[in-house]
Amino acid sequence: MTSRDNDLPAKYFDREDESPDENFYVEPRFETHIDDATIANLTQFYRETLNSSDRLLDLMSSWISHLPEEVSYQSVSGLGMNREELSRNQRLDEFVVQNLNTIPRLPYPDNHFDAVNIVVSVQYLIKPFEVFQEIGRILVPGGKSIVAMSHRLFPTKAVYAFYMLPPADRFRLVSAYMTQAAVFDDIVFIDRSPDDADPLWLVVGTKKTGFSFT
Ligand SMILES: C[S@@+](CC[C@H](N)C(=O)[O-])C[C@H]1O[C@@H](n2cnc3c(N)ncnc32)[C@H](O)[C@@H]1O
Repeated sequence: MTSRDNDLPAKYFDREDESPDENFYVEPRFETHIDDATIANLTQFYRETLNSSDRLLDLMSSWISHLPEEVSYQSVSGLGMNREELSRNQRLDEFVVQNLNTIPRLPYPDNHFDAVNIVVSVQYLIKPFEVFQEIGRILVPGGKSIVAMSHRLFPTKAVYAFYMLPPADRFRLVSAYMTQAAVFDDIVFIDRSPDDADPLWLVVGTKKTGFSFT
């Protein structure tokens, strides 16, 4: 399954700026992309959902991973576009610079991570079905794909679907990314939006326990 051979309009995955992402992310951005209260709610969600024994992947990562400071995880890996941002990220034990829009294959073994987190970035994927297939491959059975979304975006780099669709349909679209990977069950939508701050919408898929890539 690719982003082009499903029944969704091809236009959904086009962008205003189709130039290489390497150009857009060449300079580091040491900023936060959602309000502090929204980050606090995401951190609290991680506190409730993740275990210290977990191997984590922060996919589409930057200088900040929003994980609870008091918890040491077994390992935290990161993948993103800007080396300086990733080098500055105190939570990462290792990182890879990779453009998922040109190479959607993830450089990790099968059945490896307990959770793969994507924070306020899923709208930049032009081949989301390939990437979620890969997330399904690298998660352990029972592992979680956690996609955190809000309403801000880099307008020229987000795919049109995230403009055209109202929030509820964007959640359905992200659920479809997981459904079509065919390894997730129990795909749920969770609203942890704070009052008077950027919303926090989560789509969480759990890899089937009976499902193991070998
Ligand atoms: C709005 S920032 C969010 C960063 C971080 N997840 C956070 O919560 O602050 C978008 C991130 O998506 C990543 N990204 C965008 N396009 C990408 C691509 N084609 N391949 C890999 N990562 C990408 C960038 O590296 C950037 O860090």
